[in-house]
Amino acid sequence: MSMKLPFFNNKKINKNEEPELDNIPKHVAIIMDGNGRWAKNRGLPRVAGHKEGMDVVKKVAKTAANCHVEILTLYAFSTENWSRPKSEVDYLLRLPKEFLHIYLPELIENNVKIKTIGNFDVLPEHTKEAVNYAKEKTKDNDGLILNFALNYGSRFEIIQAVKQIISDMNTSGLTMDKLDEHLFSEYLYTTGLTEPDLLIRTSGEQRLSNFLLWQIAYSEFWFTDVLWPDFTEETFMQALYDFQQRKRRYGGL
Ligand code: FPP
Repeated sequence: MSMKLPFFNNKKINKNEEPELDNIPKHVAIIMDGNGRWAKNRGLPRVAGHKEGMDVVKKVAKTAANCHVEILTLYAFSTENWSRPKSEVDYLLRLPKEFLHIYLPELIENNVKIKTIGNFDVLPEHTKEAVNYAKEKTKDNDGLILNFALNYGSRFEIIQAVKQIISDMNTSGLTMDKLDEHLFSEYLYTTGLTEPDLLIRTSGEQRLSNFLLWQIAYSEFWFTDVLWPDFTEETFMQALYDFQQRKRRYGGL
């Protein structure tokens, strides 16, 4: 027998309903999971799920912007995803280009700024070119930051931060007493961004999969069984609504 989680007992919302704009999470991070299962359920190749998932990205970005979310960070390709079959890896790394080819004009029109986190330099040239072009075109926008985690892995990020800190200690006068949580954060890919207030993972999995391990220390988690290609504006707004009911105490009372 399946038990209802408390947040499913809360009010259900629909997409025509105006969200209450107080206490909207500033930064929402999403682990977009379940594309492969969505495709398998329909007898389609896995990549069909990724393609469908790409269109959901656009819808969710639009809803996030409408709800005044400031940053939307999406786990599009992890450092572990290289171990998938080459054809799937190639497909996943073509998706940013395809997405931007279709949606960049609309993103620009809506004042969206494109950013990435992750080990960008080793991505294929065509991926880097498309993303760099979009970053350049949107660099002065001050609306929603649409932040793609591309070749992102939290442990790699932390190790490279530690290496850079050691290097700065050896060469740039950084001393041990200056190193605190705030300074450490500045060595991460997410420097300049606030920490996620809300972390969403789809498809019924409840793991972090090496995503933003440092940054989510105080994030609220929201899990849904919905597979990413089936994720809708309403699902997103339900997550925002449920976030608004949470009490964040940051270790206090
Ligand atoms: C996990 O589902 C999903 C990914 C590894 C890729 C996510 C990518 C997208 C949703 C498209 C990205 C779009 C842009 C614009 C870059 P899975 O394949 O692990 O699903 P499964 O667990 O059901 O097999």
